[in-house]
Amino acid sequence: MKKRVLVSGGAGYIGSHVTVELIAAGYEVVVADNMSNCDMTCFEGVKKITGRDDIPFEKIDCCDPAAVDKLFSDYAIDAVIHFAAFKAVGESVAEPLKYYRNNLLSFLNILEAAKSHSGCNVLFSSSATVYGEAETLPVTESTPRMPATSPYGNTKQMSEDILRDVVFATAKYDGKDGQWPVKGIALRYFNPMGAHPSALIGELPRGVPNNLVPFITQTAIGKRECLSIFGNDYPTADGTCLRDYIDVVDLAKAHVAAVSRMVEGKMKEDYEIFNIGTGRPVSVYELVTAFEKVNGLKLNYKFAPRRPGDVVAIWADTSLANKELGWKAERTLEQTLASAWAWEKHLAENA
Ligand code: UFG
Repeated sequence: MKKRVLVSGGAGYIGSHVTVELIAAGYEVVVADNMSNCDMTCFEGVKKITGRDDIPFEKIDCCDPAAVDKLFSDYAIDAVIHFAAFKAVGESVAEPLKYYRNNLLSFLNILEAAKSHSGCNVLFSSSATVYGEAETLPVTESTPRMPATSPYGNTKQMSEDILRDVVFATAKYDGKDGQWPVKGIALRYFNPMGAHPSALIGELPRGVPNNLVPFITQTAIGKRECLSIFGNDYPTADGTCLRDYIDVVDLAKAHVAAVSRMVEGKMKEDYEIFNIGTGRPVSVYELVTAFEKVNGLKLNYKFAPRRPGDVVAIWADTSLANKELGWKAERTLEQTLASAWAWEKHLAENA
């Protein structure tokens, strides 16, 4: 029988790409989303790409414990991938309670439900933000985490720790009193970007984008006048920050590999962490010029002061994910930047 994966936040940017790859790999998927930061565009795109009109969609808020528990009772869930969270760093600084309440409560409810239902594995969507300004690069999973610089980052660190503690505490359960062991994996994403090659799903930022690639594509299409490159006086070769940009389809495939590892009982520890990146540092300036080159256009950009809170450089050592998950980023920077542009054009054509 096919294994079933619950994808919370499955109508969003990464969740929609993961749903596509899970279905392609032979999983049944249940999508749960409260639609607080997306519309049905991506879910409709998922249906078109997969040719599946029958993917169960549940409009629920994971902060509602009864609704989450009902979901686990209604469907036999083998694994849950938890994306449902707020993700704007700046907003989290301005409204910390909103972030702590939403991001922590929703995850606690998912974990409560997982431990009350037999055989549930939990994959948590974490972030390279947990490393902060790392002292040695590239970062491995055992590189010490630095104090979080935003409530958003803090919710990622806290959620990792909560998952680890729940896995540890539930290891002793055997179903008596309705309590079951939970196994967990945290995937630490570097900088996700790009869109599905079909251009039917991609990132849909609300308002002015915070992240670099949506800002680039919106500038290229004329929605924004000019891209500001934040800082060109950093101690890097061209003075701009270095990041590890991971294609969203590659990222989605890492989730399939991690889910398979959990449901097939191949985990080496009951709680595991993997870096999901390319292992290749790319500067902001390099990314901008690569975008111009691959898409044959000129971008209106200027150098601007540093953005507070940015780390100078971060990129992943991905050897653990390569070895243990049998996964590796495959798409080139150029392919990904072309897909991001194709998606922006698709949005303009369908506006
Ligand atoms: N940048 C610009 N101009 C822009 C936007 C970004 O120059 O308009 C630069 C940033 O200064 C940074 C790089 O592009 O050097 C990447 O910035 P992003 O905002 O795209 O990504 P971050 O590395 O800041 O964000 C990542 C993850 C977040 C996470 C954050 C924590 O994408 O989910 O790290 O620091 F919260």
